[in-house]
Amino acid sequence: MIRSVELLPKDWELVPVVEKNAVRVFSPSNIAVAKYWGKRDLALNLPTNDSVSITLKDFGSFTTVEFLAGLENDELILNGSIESSEKITKVIAVLNEVRKLSGKSHKARVQSRNNFPTAAGLASSASGLSAVALAAVRAAGLDIPASKISEIARRGSGSAARSIFGGFVQWKAGKELDGSDSVAENFKPASHWNLVVRVLVVRATAKTHASTSGMEHTRKTSPYFESWVNSAQRDVAEILNAIENKNFNELANIAESNCLRMHASAMAARPTVFYWQPQTLALIQEISDLRRGGVPVFYTIDAGPNVVCFFEKDATDVVDRALERIEGVQILRTTIGEGARVLS
Ligand code: DP6
Repeated sequence: MIRSVELLPKDWELVPVVEKNAVRVFSPSNIAVAKYWGKRDLALNLPTNDSVSITLKDFGSFTTVEFLAGLENDELILNGSIESSEKITKVIAVLNEVRKLSGKSHKARVQSRNNFPTAAGLASSASGLSAVALAAVRAAGLDIPASKISEIARRGSGSAARSIFGGFVQWKAGKELDGSDSVAENFKPASHWNLVVRVLVVRATAKTHASTSGMEHTRKTSPYFESWVNSAQRDVAEILNAIENKNFNELANIAESNCLRMHASAMAARPTVFYWQPQTLALIQEISDLRRGGVPVFYTIDAGPNVVCFFEKDATDVVDRALERIEGVQILRTTIGEGARVLS
């Protein structure tokens, strides 16, 4: 069965909001077709190469941020539970940047709920940290351009820099040591190309290696890392060209190859960083067969076993029928959408 995600999750805020300047936002997740998998600076989340992503329409994070007098520490309530792990460190990195720019000293309460599986390689850090960045910037009363919000979001999670924007997005690696030129920008709006998206959930639980440690371990130990980075940078110009000209086959070929090279570099790390499950391969095979048979569809896979596929509207029936035949896969439907936005 093909399902849509819940558009506005219930019990999003467990704790009543007290601050009148609390800001609620929605930020979407994004899926890279030319991927980020390696950092030139670990603390600032500066990438080794540019990346290109597509923003998903209604998959994302609903997030409230309020700066509260009297709060001793920053708090994160994620999907209904208080978080104390790596996730709060990333949130604090974003909040600290906002405090530095705004002069605010109060700690913040962040409440966030994703309407899709968290930490399963479906870019929940992209939607979550970009949501915190936008909400915190507005709650602190900062009036700054989207490119600056993207830079702040990047402090939390690299891929979050891209979710500030909708449609087709490029994140430039930049050259500056302070990362001031490492920001995302919109390449083409969502309306440029009406592609259909299916998120194929093989496992909804947390992935085996978090992206942050997975990519760093790959950088340090994989003999394929350097060639991955060089080839990934070359992919970017070609992929932008394919998007610009709506050349589906070209986009499909480069995006799939880019995805497989990212995973190959991770698989070759010692010990291996291996994300796939049997259904991941079944989906790769099915989607490849469809395209060989002339159906305009392609897949990509982030740091997890789940698969995302993109196709032209006319192919909807044939793709959906083929996907439904594969057992043990939850199919969620969406399209291409707008970037992060304030709800109240
Ligand atoms: C495979 O942005 O989650 O999804 O910057 O360490 O938080 P950190 O990593 P993250 O990595 C995303 C990796 C990827 C590819 C991509 O989105 O480009």
